[in-house]
Amino acid sequence: MSPEKPSILVTGGAGYIGSHTVLALQQAGYEVVILDNLVYGHRELVEQVLKVELVVGDTGDRPLLDDLFKTRNFAAVMHFSAYAYVGESVTDPAKYYRNNVVGTLTLLEAMLAASINKFVFSSTCATYGVPEVIPIPENHPQDPINPYGATKLMVERILADFDVAYNFKSVRFRYFNAAGANPDGLLGEDHNPETHLIPLILLTALGKRESISIFGTDYPTSDGTCIRDYIHVNDLADAHVLGLEYLLKGGDSEIFNLGNGSGFSVREVIAAAESVTGVSIPIQECDRRPGDPPVLIGSSEKARNILGWRSQYPSIQDIVSHAWQWHQKRHK
Ligand code: UFG
Repeated sequence: MSPEKPSILVTGGAGYIGSHTVLALQQAGYEVVILDNLVYGHRELVEQVLKVELVVGDTGDRPLLDDLFKTRNFAAVMHFSAYAYVGESVTDPAKYYRNNVVGTLTLLEAMLAASINKFVFSSTCATYGVPEVIPIPENHPQDPINPYGATKLMVERILADFDVAYNFKSVRFRYFNAAGANPDGLLGEDHNPETHLIPLILLTALGKRESISIFGTDYPTSDGTCIRDYIHVNDLADAHVLGLEYLLKGGDSEIFNLGNGSGFSVREVIAAAESVTGVSIPIQECDRRPGDPPVLIGSSEKARNILGWRSQYPSIQDIVSHAWQWHQKRHK
């Protein structure tokens, strides 16, 4: 019998990327406990699909964390929980700094007190701001253009300083545009409110919305619409398992982009969705959305070289078709 794998605390495990990663961790043999305040997470997902222990609470609740760390023996923490609406972060930055920065710092301090020093962190390409080179490498300057990106960058800096001072080891993943759904239809993207392009297009295809708004048609791109690097959520989940194992084997702190290295414009994504769904999707051309860089494409060479990560579902058709499968089931 293989030795038992260690226990991992996953914050935000009832959310979109967190839940897909919990499934990947379970499949790799890890024992998982989820900490989620259920503000945006889904209890039924944890209870009916993932079937792991759920602790309902905030990462900013130090007594709860101290209690959790005293009664369990976690080898590492994976930290997904964060507010992630870019637009809201502009209108209500206090909410974002409180939760994403102060909440995370509280979690990190509780980990230090409990002598847990391995941490996998969800950062974002939004920390780069408007890129100077494409594809963006990890050493690109970071100059976020919205408070959401700023909160993630602050945590990245805290983690770098904690490593120097406390030997605290972290893997910081900068995601590009997470999309798609579990290919077996078990999990998917279910935000409320929904603001992301692919789910909104698919809700339009399902007749739940009248049209899809294209935010900006005058960008300096081939068809005038924004270009993004869409990465399948299962590929993100796989990278997290590899990042965890890298730390458990004694790896040093590292930063990795996670994207596919190729970009699709908003119009191209709509065309892919029309081909997958067979539905003609009504569009509305609108003004630019504030805070949107024209092009975001990342280089993930480092994750491939150091972690051995490979994207299983790089095609936009696969990404959209798995999301479509989930949305059809979710809204039937
Ligand atoms: N878009 C539209 N219409 C919509 C929704 C989006 O045209 O109704 C466009 C956006 O302007 C953007 C692209 O589609 O160009 C993708 O937008 P999403 O909202 O799906 O994703 P974002 O690129 O804004 O956001 C994602 C993550 C954030 C992260 C950000 C980094 O969701 O958490 O990437 O830029 F911060």
